[in-house]
Amino acid sequence: MAAAESSADPKHNVQAARQAYYDRISKYDMAPLWEKLRQLVGDEPKTQCVPAIWRFRDVKAMVMESADLISAKEAERRVLVLENPALRGQSRITQTLYAGLQLIMPGETAPAHRHTASAIRFIIDGEGAYTSVEGERTFMSPGDFVLTANWATHDHGNTTDRPMIWLDVLDLPTINFFEAMFAEHLDEDSQPVRRADGDSAAFYASGVVPDGAQIALKRSPVVNYTYARTRPILERMRKGGDIDKRHGARVRYANPVTGGWVMPTMGAQLALLPCGFKGESYRSTDGTIFVCVEGEGATSIGETEFAWSAGDVFVAPPWQRYAHEAAKESVLFSISDRPAQEALGIWREID
Ligand SMILES: [Fe+2]
Repeated sequence: MAAAESSADPKHNVQAARQAYYDRISKYDMAPLWEKLRQLVGDEPKTQCVPAIWRFRDVKAMVMESADLISAKEAERRVLVLENPALRGQSRITQTLYAGLQLIMPGETAPAHRHTASAIRFIIDGEGAYTSVEGERTFMSPGDFVLTANWATHDHGNTTDRPMIWLDVLDLPTINFFEAMFAEHLDEDSQPVRRADGDSAAFYASGVVPDGAQIALKRSPVVNYTYARTRPILERMRKGGDIDKRHGARVRYANPVTGGWVMPTMGAQLALLPCGFKGESYRSTDGTIFVCVEGEGATSIGETEFAWSAGDVFVAPPWQRYAHEAAKESVLFSISDRPAQEALGIWREID
């Protein structure tokens, strides 16, 4: 009799006794840690993300098609979310970050609102549409890096005759993980403009500040880190030979008041890879989103190589090795949750 034999088996008895115990404690909403310990405390980061790329030449037409289906005003934000292929349906590109391609057509506005999630825009295509942030209306060009920090009122508009597409990155999954999201919609579509375009960069990123200014330290006061200002700095680094073997000639977008990251939850960098650059491999615990601003090259992530050119967005998951190569002189923008990990004391890297 199989049942009698197995119940006589001491191993079976132990398992049966444990299971009966688990069933009893489960009724009191308790569970044994020892059954999950290895899963909860792994020896190394195990990511659920996979590397992925969205090539601009493939997706631009689909982004444009959305203009025929819904207006920016009706959609509130007309965005195609870039979902990590392993995290479909979760509106995220990594576990902590959301990314999407936003389209704003000539004459359209995206109404004013604010939320506890912080956002950045990185301009990919088009010229001269605006984002207003806390009273400063900034007109945007490709390569510009625009901040709309936690609770900053923002709206967008396009007074040009050309569509504009940019990459939005938000810390939505992080804020929703904390279940700390608030949002508010303003009555008017566009907030009043109180400051001139470029005021925040002039006032806070020029080595002087308005005397007596009250400055928020947790995030940068600068609204638009323009490509026109940042790109020549990469050129200076390249000429000076300041080229990292893994990252190229790279700057970190900084809060000019503190020197720290631009936001507590997201940090960004801009790197120039000289023509023929063959980067050494690198990994860190922050899953990183890249945008090719100019040039042409390829990045191997894990076992896969992703060829990229201008406008392409790709993602390297946490703790996966990646290495860049540039067939032409190239510029890569990157953004990750590194400031949050550093603040928590958990960020690590390996050369
Ligand atoms: Fe928003």
